[in-house]
Amino acid sequence: MAKSRTNFVCRSCGGVQSKWMGKCPDCGAWDSLEEHRVEKDLTRDPQRGVVEGMKWAVEPGNASAGELANGGTVVAAAMPIAQIEGNGVGIAGRLSTGISELDRVLGGGLVPGSVVLVGGDPGIGKSTLMLQAAGRIGGAGGDESAKGVETATDGANVLYVSSEESAEQVKLRAERLEIAGSENLYVLADTNLARIVEQTRRVRPSVLVIDSVQMVYKADLDASPGSVAQLRRCCAELVYLAKLSGTAVIMVGHVTKDGQLAGPRLLEHLVDVVLYFEGDRHHAHRIIRGVKNRFGTTLEIGIFEMTDGGLREAPGGLGVGTLEAGSERRPGSVVCPVMTGARCMLVEIQALSATGFLGAAKRKASGIDANRLAMIIAVLEQHAGMRLADRDLFASSVGGIRVVEPAADLALLLAIAGSQLRRGLEPGTAAVGEVGLGGEVRSVGQIEQRVKEAGRLGFRRVIVPAGKKGKGVVKMDGVEVVGVRRIGEAVEEMG
Ligand code: TYD
Ligand code: MG
Repeated sequence: MAKSRTNFVCRSCGGVQSKWMGKCPDCGAWDSLEEHRVEKDLTRDPQRGVVEGMKWAVEPGNASAGELANGGTVVAAAMPIAQIEGNGVGIAGRLSTGISELDRVLGGGLVPGSVVLVGGDPGIGKSTLMLQAAGRIGGAGGDESAKGVETATDGANVLYVSSEESAEQVKLRAERLEIAGSENLYVLADTNLARIVEQTRRVRPSVLVIDSVQMVYKADLDASPGSVAQLRRCCAELVYLAKLSGTAVIMVGHVTKDGQLAGPRLLEHLVDVVLYFEGDRHHAHRIIRGVKNRFGTTLEIGIFEMTDGGLREAPGGLGVGTLEAGSERRPGSVVCPVMTGARCMLVEIQALSATGFLGAAKRKASGIDANRLAMIIAVLEQHAGMRLADRDLFASSVGGIRVVEPAADLALLLAIAGSQLRRGLEPGTAAVGEVGLGGEVRSVGQIEQRVKEAGRLGFRRVIVPAGKKGKGVVKMDGVEVVGVRRIGEAVEEMG
């Protein structure tokens, strides 16, 4: 006979306690324990029920759902790694999402049978991105088939499960995103996990998108949707579904007030890839960042711009477009090649020096560290002979991108000095380097990559810290590289 007992699960760390407490002893979160009833015989084998329901996936002749790594059986015996047959999950075996920036973050595309969790603030564009990706995988073209799940067609089928919007709403959005004609994109508006699995069985998709996993529930579980118990269970079942059927599962998750994925971190352990979709809601750009990736690096980021036609890829960085248009010197504005992970991004840094009052001068930074700004101002006063004590100084990074790298110091310094002296760098010039307290320009890493990226985006001249070989101008990939040792030399570059 099934016995049940009650325990308490922490909403933030997933820790299990036998009695309720105000504070979770595992992670220290307050008021985070949630009552959870466990059926004795269900706890014994978490795969029970799921595995039985998944038999369809391993039926012979069902190739469209993807090949299984181990022939459909759960690995039974240990064997030498050399004898294990791969399932073609090299770069070539991956499924492109049709969105190169997303592929880049995934490490080259979706791995069949993998589970991806995408988190982000409400309204940031998760549903938009997922629907766009689903449409591209399904291959746009042909006439409408969004609501029908009668026949499974050949090719990459995609099932988009919307647990927050109705099928009609999804259709409306798809029309705006111009993917409504996608032949292999199926839409299901449901929140019941059993029905979702049932429809997955019918459609046999290569990719299953669950938007969002917080709203999905399993009926035989005595807990409300979105609770730890439901989340954990639904996520675990979806992971089994992915592993058994070879379907890549993408789950959209909500984030809590402090930016963590809602539900215990446990979800992050269960899945293969965790991506965060972030950005400033007042700016058009969005960044997707890998936090965990079993199949690639987490250093990569994908950059998008939100437009009225959905998300557009912006591989070239942000806020630079306006700069290239101009052909005259712009005092107070300097472009800096900033590294984020393995990718270089060109960011425009602006500064404004305005009349202020001695002793009450304002120093405001947006997208730039305020301490860094204060330090640069002090360096300019001491080592460049500039009087800034009675000037209001404002600095910002264009597009709202947060610049944390010290390598942006030189650009910030030149922007402030330029605004103060009303002098600007020659058009098509970028600057990078760390500024030391002694007024020296210190070297930074990945100079070559930064110069290359600047060159690719049309910059003809880059001011960098002078190397060991001494200062002077060198040509690198058709870009003039100017080495400077002291901030004074950099300021002299402005005319
Ligand atoms: P959405 O994908 O619904 O966000 P999430 O699923 O993360 O909650 O994104 C909605 C926002 O995106 C909304 O504020 C409007 C904006 N948006 C556009 O600017 N253009 C578009 O084409 C679409 C579909 C949405
Ligand atoms: Mg949404």
